[in-house]
Amino acid sequence: MMRMPLSTNRTCLRAATDNDLAQLYRIEADPLIKKYLSPVECDQSEWVARAEETIVGSDETAVIEFNKSSEIIGTASLSKCLIRDVDAVYDACELRVIIVDQHQSVGLGGEILAAMLEEAEGLGFWSAYGVVHDANLKSKGMLKKFGFRIVGRKREPGGWQDGHEVWLKSVKASTKSKHEGSRP
Ligand SMILES: CC(C)(COP(=O)(O)OP(=O)(O)OC[C@H]1O[C@@H](n2cnc3c(N)ncnc32)[C@H](O)[C@@H]1OP(=O)(O)O)[C@@H](O)C(=O)NCCC(=O)NCCS
Repeated sequence: MMRMPLSTNRTCLRAATDNDLAQLYRIEADPLIKKYLSPVECDQSEWVARAEETIVGSDETAVIEFNKSSEIIGTASLSKCLIRDVDAVYDACELRVIIVDQHQSVGLGGEILAAMLEEAEGLGFWSAYGVVHDANLKSKGMLKKFGFRIVGRKREPGGWQDGHEVWLKSVKASTKSKHEGSRP
């Protein structure tokens, strides 16, 4: 989905390799980083085995490499979905950015979100959205700054994201979608 590598001023978003998995597990299993995100419910070896199939080489999830030190400081994902509205069905993508604690609050999340929005537009999506826990003030602040607005809440009965806010932003206002006009 993402055309990688994708460069920002201070980082490079690239496909994950087997060598990244230990660090990615540390990020995924960090209770501070994951406070408002899906918890990891298995041990490292099980997680790595699954990640070898789903994350390594994936074009939906990128590792964020910090240019200055070459360390992995987070992950970014862009995944396609269809949004069903009253009058149309259109292409949207879900964006998710995770930055490790020690690199937060220095503008990196915003830098990466900006690059991903540009990428989403280049890929022809109509809209981008994020699903956010009500109490995730940093994430909500960042989305607000980039022009996202709350359009509703996620319906996922029994799922960990049930009731989370859905923040949406139009990224491609002027081009017709192939789905325009069709009804859900
Ligand atoms: C959400 C996250 C990606 C933001 O990354 P970051 O690098 O810390 O954010 P930035 O420094 O680029 O800040 C971007 C904007 O977010 C907003 N923001 C940052 N911290 C904030 C806070 N504590 N409260 C409200 N808004 C905040 C500001 O508008 C900021 O822009 P500004 O500095 O020009 O005012 C990061 O905190 C993170 O990885 N959190 C844990 C994982 C997570 O919850 N990810 C979101 C998944 S939906």
